[in-house]
Amino acid sequence: MNKQEIISLLKSDGAELFKAADEVRKKYVGDEVHLRGLIEFSNICKRDCLYCGIRSSNKNVERYRLSKEEILDFAQKAIDYGYKTLVMQSGEDGYFTAEILADIIKKIKPSTGIAITLSIGERSPDEYKMLKDAGADRFLLRIETTDEELYKQMHPHMSLEKRKQCLYDIKSAGYEVGTGCLVGLPGQTIESLANDILFFKELGADMIGIGPFIPHKDTPLADAPGGSFELALKVMAVTRLILPDINIPATTAMETLNPNGRLIALQSGANVVMPNVTEGDYRRKYELYPGKICINDTPAKCRGCISGKIHSIGRTVSEGKGFRRKANV
Ligand code: 5AD
Ligand code: FES
Repeated sequence: MNKQEIISLLKSDGAELFKAADEVRKKYVGDEVHLRGLIEFSNICKRDCLYCGIRSSNKNVERYRLSKEEILDFAQKAIDYGYKTLVMQSGEDGYFTAEILADIIKKIKPSTGIAITLSIGERSPDEYKMLKDAGADRFLLRIETTDEELYKQMHPHMSLEKRKQCLYDIKSAGYEVGTGCLVGLPGQTIESLANDILFFKELGADMIGIGPFIPHKDTPLADAPGGSFELALKVMAVTRLILPDINIPATTAMETLNPNGRLIALQSGANVVMPNVTEGDYRRKYELYPGKICINDTPAKCRGCISGKIHSIGRTVSEGKGFRRKANV
């Protein structure tokens, strides 16, 4: 598919696109939905992304950092709930050096065999390697936008080039690599979203997470219009058509904009859900955007809730670790 074709799909009314993406999903990755248990282990971040609620300039955030014991406790509970993958996500928190994280991974991995995904931001090639050697399997780092001008505006003191380099470093280190973009950033065009999708293919991503931008009141984008659920869903569906065998989550941000957002996404190309396994008040404090779902719920509740929803649309919860199975496409 070329850029013009992607653009016309993104401009189409969507119904046929969603159906086509659902069929491709079924053909290439089947009816199983992979669940990934998400631990938000620190909301301390040195970056200042204009859209993000935990940006360093936001002084209204109650910052927290889980102790090693708490992380291990949440990890064990996630395993007990039946999760086969753990996603360890945080702001870019310098306290968690590669050594400290490697130590935690080594305490979780060998005894449990659970797959570990990291989502901790930009690091050096050596750190990516060290964490891979410690036992991490996958790494998520969204490109956010491939529009150079927009990237610069949204990310003070950061560069698109560096971000891309990190993604290639992650790949070279041997991880399954996940990236993705925000949809509806101020000034973002349909053409630039088409370029984002082409970049996912160029990188050879194994996982793509796409979510609508949701304005947060304590950020410079408080009064920006925000992204639409429909357009985010279209970007996701086109991504499924172009990369038929990858893993695509139905993102939490989609459910924030539409009470049935995750189920609709699962029926429009998605095959993964990432329920939160962080406990207590930490959920509320990890506020990337307002209206985040499940902030008062428990890991047990979310696990049961999401399984029920998945079964309600005739799909099953996978018993496997959900690595990408590459197809010949
Ligand atoms: N709205 C939606 N998604 C956001 N993220 C950060 N801030 C927001 C927001 N205001 C997303 C980014 C990041 C992911 C963890 O959360 O894309 O990569
Ligand atoms: Fe958390 Fe439904 S997934 S309550």
